[in-house]
Amino acid sequence: MAKTIREDVGKFYHHCPRLAVVVTAHAKGRDNAMAAAWHMPISFSPPLYGVSISPKRFTYQLIVDSKEFGVNFLPLEAAELIASVGGSQGQEIDKFQRFNITRDKSLRTAVPILKAAYAAYECRLVDDRGYGDHRLLVGEIEAVHWLKAAFAPEEILDLAKVNPALYLGHELYLTTAKDTVRCLDREVYGKR
Ligand SMILES: Cc1cc2nc3c(=O)[nH]c(=O)nc-3n(C[C@H](O)[C@H](O)[C@H](O)COP(=O)(O)O)c2cc1C
Repeated sequence: MAKTIREDVGKFYHHCPRLAVVVTAHAKGRDNAMAAAWHMPISFSPPLYGVSISPKRFTYQLIVDSKEFGVNFLPLEAAELIASVGGSQGQEIDKFQRFNITRDKSLRTAVPILKAAYAAYECRLVDDRGYGDHRLLVGEIEAVHWLKAAFAPEEILDLAKVNPALYLGHELYLTTAKDTVRCLDREVYGKR
C-alpha cells in the first residue's frame, strides 16, 4: 500500500499512541495538574526529563514560579482523571478538590504526587526553552516514586500488573497488548 505524503503539515498525530501522563505543580499555595502527551526522558546522568508545555497553561506559570514539576504515570483505569485535568483550567478551579484527586507525600519538592500513579518523578527545573508554540521544560529528577510490586526486578513495568494509559489523539485512550511483548536482545540482534 503506497503512503500518502503532505507538505501542509498542520496538526500531526502520526507519532501516537504515546503515554499520557499528568504533570503536577505547586506554587503560591496552589496545587495544579494537567494532562501531557508530549514528554520524554533526556539523560541518565544527570537524570533529566522533558515536558513540552504551552505557555498558556496555568501549570506552566506554576512551574516557572516554583522551578519544579512532577510527572505522574497512570494506569488506563485512571484515564478519566487524565481527561479531567486535561479538560479544565487551574486558573478557574481547584482540580484536586473538584475531581477528588488524592496525593502521596513528595520527598524533595512541593509538587503533588498522585496516589493513582504507578510511578512518578519529582523534577527540579533546569531549563525552559521555547520551541514554536510550546516551551520545553527540562527537569532534573530528584526523586522517583514507584509501586515496587508493579515492576519486575529490573524496574521494568510488569504489564500483568499495570495497564499503562496511552493516548491515541482525539480523546482516545488505550493500553498495551501484553501478549505482544517480545524480548529481542540487542547484543544478539545487532550481530546477526
Ligand atoms: C491527553 C492529553 C494530552 C495533552 N498533552 C499536552 C501536552 O503535552 N502539552 C500541553 O501543553 N498541553 C497538553 N494537553 C492540554 C492540557 O492538559 C490542558 O490545556 C489543560 O487544561 C491545562 O491545564 P492548566 O491550564 O490548569 O495548566 C493535553 C490534554 C490531553 C487531554
